[in-house]
Amino acid sequence: MGNWKMNGSLQTNQALLGELRELYDRTCGSDLVVCVPAPYLAQTQQLLDGTPITWGGQDVSAHDKGAYTGEVSAAMLSEFGSRWALVGHSERRTLHGETDQVVADKALAALRGGLTPVVCVGESLQERDQGQVAEVIERQLKPVLALGDEAIARLVIAYEPVWAIGTGRSATPEQAREVHALIRKLVGDAGKNVPLLYGGSVKPDNAGELFAMDNIDGALVGGASLVATEFYAIAN
Ligand code: 13P
Repeated sequence: MGNWKMNGSLQTNQALLGELRELYDRTCGSDLVVCVPAPYLAQTQQLLDGTPITWGGQDVSAHDKGAYTGEVSAAMLSEFGSRWALVGHSERRTLHGETDQVVADKALAALRGGLTPVVCVGESLQERDQGQVAEVIERQLKPVLALGDEAIARLVIAYEPVWAIGTGRSATPEQAREVHALIRKLVGDAGKNVPLLYGGSVKPDNAGELFAMDNIDGALVGGASLVATEFYAIAN
């Protein structure tokens, strides 16, 4: 799953999605998803409709409609063919003050609108250094897990340690494995088939060792998802 963040233009998107379409081969065995800025959903739909590559938004409103200037609802994302919505990305949590409860409300809104929420969690470097990783992940997931078994079964969860995002410093496979094992335990029986993605400086040269770990079912990729050959190499 690629997260373009606030990158792209009509021209560069056309080139990137065109290249991905050509490169993507179902035999690679991975599902490919792009989460694009909302203004480019129509273009993405036009270029990817009918291909095996799916797309989604990078955020979704907790509300279904109304006086929420600047927000995009799950129904709006759906209308442009989105299947997914990222919720609680660390950049939303830190730069936009999203609390754990807001993230859970957004996940619920996505589910109500027929989207799969990709719930992002992860600790800061300070929290890791203070030995608080498990505590932070449990706290972040608590209101999401309170949505109940039916909701849990329909989630995707992405573990993205904040210190690994955009820094070129990925978690080691062992560090990622430990947290993924914890998340797998927290989601319980209802979440036994929930895909768990790792994110944070995933590149073609470290993807293999990460994917070799138990409970790492895929990746949430930032920078490398903007280069078709790199993104496809990760999927492959
Ligand atoms: P990078 O792959 O650029 O580190 O970004 C990770 C990320 O935040 C994806 O959501």
